[in-house]
Amino acid sequence: MKLFLDTANIDQVKEIASWGVLDGVTTNPSLVAKEGGNFKETVLEMCKLVPNVSAQVTAEKFEDMKKQADEYAGWHKHVVVKVPMTVEGLKTLSYCKSKGIRTNTTLIFSVNQAILAAKTGASMISPFIGRLDDIGQDGMELISEIMQAWSFYNFDTEVLVASTRHPRHIADAAQLGADICTIPYAVFKKLPLHKLTDTGLKTFMEDWKSINK
Ligand code: G3P
Repeated sequence: MKLFLDTANIDQVKEIASWGVLDGVTTNPSLVAKEGGNFKETVLEMCKLVPNVSAQVTAEKFEDMKKQADEYAGWHKHVVVKVPMTVEGLKTLSYCKSKGIRTNTTLIFSVNQAILAAKTGASMISPFIGRLDDIGQDGMELISEIMQAWSFYNFDTEVLVASTRHPRHIADAAQLGADICTIPYAVFKKLPLHKLTDTGLKTFMEDWKSINK
């Protein structure tokens, strides 16, 4: 399972990459706006640290999305062009496939959207589970449904679980066989922690000191 960091903050990427567990980063216009700074420079910095950096097109018409996709893909081979799940987005995904440009389809909220994106040859799809939870639906159920559908076909499209909000989301996604999880920094920092690890280590250290006085 690949783990991505969901951020546009370069310091956060450097920190988690130093653990040796980070496979990629996902940015989006909201995260970029929060951090400020130059988008291209931020993406290029991240590309030095990880092999997958999602950069989202902001145009809404196919002709303009296509131009942005070409531009981003030319920045660095680690760039994955993120494309929203719209009809214009589907055309852009098909175009990117024909040009060998890797893509991540964002704002997926149904199995049918997932199938359409996969049919275009999208490299990844991003179902947003937290936002489904927010409106009283079960986001993880969507991952389960997509993984079940995927088990019948030969889609190369990786399922990237997005809008994760807490550590249980990552464990549940792993047990459903999802390919990738993208995780906010605050949630990523919780993943190595367990109270019994802390108390166990404290006891080991105290016992060690007691024989080395
Ligand atoms: O990767 C998608 C993510 O950025 C959306 O997360 O928490 O805004 O729903 P959230």
